[in-house]
Amino acid sequence: MSRLRSSRGQSNPYSIYTKLRAMGDVVPAPWGGYLLLSHELCDHVLRSRKWATFDAEWRARQGGGTRWDAPASIMLSQSLQGLNPPVHTMQRRTLGNVFDNATLGALRGPVTRIAETLLDRLAEQLRTAKEADFATTVGEEMPAATISHWLRLPESDHDLLKALTHGQGLAQELLPSKSQLAQANEAAEGLRTYFTPLISERRRTPGDDVLSRWIRVWDEIEPDRAVADEILFHLVMFIVIASLETTSTLLSNMVWVLDQHPAVLSWLRSHPEQVPRAVEEVLRYDPPIHLTTRVATEDTVLGGFHISRDEVVHVMLAAANHDPAHHPSPETFDIQRTESHLAFGGGIHYCIGAALARLEATVLLTSLIRRFPTLRVSVPPVWEPRVAFRRLTALYVTER
Ligand code: HEM
Repeated sequence: MSRLRSSRGQSNPYSIYTKLRAMGDVVPAPWGGYLLLSHELCDHVLRSRKWATFDAEWRARQGGGTRWDAPASIMLSQSLQGLNPPVHTMQRRTLGNVFDNATLGALRGPVTRIAETLLDRLAEQLRTAKEADFATTVGEEMPAATISHWLRLPESDHDLLKALTHGQGLAQELLPSKSQLAQANEAAEGLRTYFTPLISERRRTPGDDVLSRWIRVWDEIEPDRAVADEILFHLVMFIVIASLETTSTLLSNMVWVLDQHPAVLSWLRSHPEQVPRAVEEVLRYDPPIHLTTRVATEDTVLGGFHISRDEVVHVMLAAANHDPAHHPSPETFDIQRTESHLAFGGGIHYCIGAALARLEATVLLTSLIRRFPTLRVSVPPVWEPRVAFRRLTALYVTER
């Protein structure tokens, strides 16, 4: 696992997952808990009511002075991903079908404009410097610009939101270090400082945006305004942080993976209608989130292991996406696949923003292959040394 956390391990974690899988579909972790490596078991745990996310009660049972009572961690436990039914069901319902066909249809134009503007910037950098960092110029900017358009947030806030997301994400790492937790706590405070006045301001001057709509919904449900605002804070804050780095990683991964498969890329140029399939296969082949965690709600048996109530299992999403029992020849990048994958999770916590992420990736890749027929990666990318959330810090490209 320490190899996985290194930058080298991140450049190819899949060979490490293969070695882990050779030890079984369930592997006890040296720090406690278990790693789940098969698609079948990961899918089962995500969908089963016998498994819960580690909510505030579970975290409190772990005692003080642990990573679980860090402010950033407590904040996550009150956000959608840290809630269990019935509170989770109720809160998720209040959001409505966030990315229904009408919303996606309305977003397509703005998302296309955002992609074109960022690709103009990329073209300009390639013209002047002959090389450009796709990750920072396009990959990280596009999700920030998209979510800001949707929530009506100013462009001047993009850098702050990206930095806060990055910091808070560290609390979700597999075994965060003290300094990572300190960064996460600082970011949690920053998120509070950013979103609290935003909610008050939208309450004062509501618009036709989605946040104003959620405020109206919560004002009808919850008579105590302070309670409503606290829930709204966790909902909107988590949606923003859940949308940024994940989608950025997908967008940059797309360029890197296709660069590694020039025959597929060249076929795609003459079959642009197949771009959504390519996006789907990138999500399977190299998903942005590599693991999520669940706890047992009762004593149970999983893959032959007796697991006690409150014990943790790490659902290895990326390993499941390379399980040969579910994905034949998993190391082959094949855009004609039709099997389901776990890049967006499964069950009641299934990603709310999957459709938006797919839209951004499809729009961007379609424009990219049309506008930059000779684009190539000039230097292999650099990954941040993390395990749960993958992140390319740089992806230099050039034109041949
Ligand atoms: C490629 C981009 C993305 C990936 C790979 C991704 C992946 C995931 C995964 C794996 C989960 C489930 C986590 C778990 O079960 O513990 C999840 C949940 C979630 N995602 Fe995404 N996500 C992406 C983009 C987005 C976007 C664009 C948004 C919002 C606009 C978003 C909002 C959320 C939210 C709010 C949840 C929590 C849902 C719940 O707990 O009920 N995600 N995402």
